[in-house]
Amino acid sequence: MPATIIVGGFWGDEGKGKIVAHVANTDKPSIIARGGVGPNAGHTVEIQGQKFGVRMIPSGFVYKPARLLIGAGVLVNPEVFLKEVEILKVADRAKVDYRCAIIEPKHCEFDRSADHLRKIGTTGSGCGPANVDRVNRIVKQAKDIPELKNFLTDVPFEINKALEKGDFVLVEGSQGFALSLYYGTYPYVTSKDTTASAIASDVGLGPTKVDDVIVVFKCFPTRVGAGPFPTEMPVEEAERLGIVEYGTVTGRRRRVGYWDGELARYSAMINGATQIALTGIDKLDKECYGVNEWGKLTAKAKEFVERVESEVKVPVTLISTGPELSQIIDLRKEKL
Ligand code: GTP
Ligand code: IMP
Ligand code: MG
Repeated sequence: MPATIIVGGFWGDEGKGKIVAHVANTDKPSIIARGGVGPNAGHTVEIQGQKFGVRMIPSGFVYKPARLLIGAGVLVNPEVFLKEVEILKVADRAKVDYRCAIIEPKHCEFDRSADHLRKIGTTGSGCGPANVDRVNRIVKQAKDIPELKNFLTDVPFEINKALEKGDFVLVEGSQGFALSLYYGTYPYVTSKDTTASAIASDVGLGPTKVDDVIVVFKCFPTRVGAGPFPTEMPVEEAERLGIVEYGTVTGRRRRVGYWDGELARYSAMINGATQIALTGIDKLDKECYGVNEWGKLTAKAKEFVERVESEVKVPVTLISTGPELSQIIDLRKEKL
């Protein structure tokens, strides 16, 4: 059985949380593993009127039989992790790789006070400074923290054992392609690579073990914090289109732009995308809100999906039509 990685294609906040939760519910993984930077991420999952914003626990938590693992590459803030474990009631299945690096209050303080980081507009969650200490080889690891004692595991070992048994494993990235330390709009980027290869490495999955990479794009890309945004639209235009979004972690207003086919294609190339999940089609055409079938999309929406496929050269297999988990068109069986 395969391993699938889900990553963000633009500047984060593409709606990975919702897509991961949907794929988890439909494809039933025995493990959902989280790669990416750390608690700078905020994934939103809306289910039956309840809204969850998770920063550490994989967004697939809604699928109850799965183990929820945090890969060694990810930074852990023990306070954030333990709080989410309690709120989501996942103490029996949430685990952290014993080698994860730990974010301490001093990292958050530095992230919020250093001039150059304020100019970049970081999330202030301590991720950059903790990664600096990690590279300096002075950071604490999960195995050094008594409060995490009952949550430690060897994530690569668990994942590879599950794959050998024939289970499906779902791997979730965070942030997005254009925030990658290597390929993004440097220096206005996060503190690590965010592409699928990095996410695989974060959880200890070798490149030959990855079968599918789903890249999530939103119809209208957004960006929080400073830095280049070639297709950005004026605030008044975003308001006129009814696209007003705020960050899950920082509450900052997201900048909004038009679809960027060139960036999407470059992002899909480096991510090795095999499928595209497109979110926010209801923002392109309000009549598509909550639609569950391809045939019920408007001509405008269908044309847009076809344009995306012709520009990016990768099939669109999932189309999200609203924030709620059930608002989705799943074309995977028809297309693959
Ligand atoms: P990061 O890991 O922080 O990059 O986040 P993310 O990719 O998980 O996205 P996030 O949850 O931060 O932001 C996406 C927002 O769009 C959330 O508020 C979702 O509820 C919402 N959303 C997701 N899909 C759709 C959709 O198809 N239509 C609309 N209108 N909203 C959506
Ligand atoms: P940092 O990752 O907190 O260092 O922030 C660096 C840049 O990445 C800033 O522009 C942040 O706004 C952005 N960023 C980091 N994590 C996310 C995310 O999950 N969603 C959107 N932007 C993010
Ligand atoms: Mg987010």
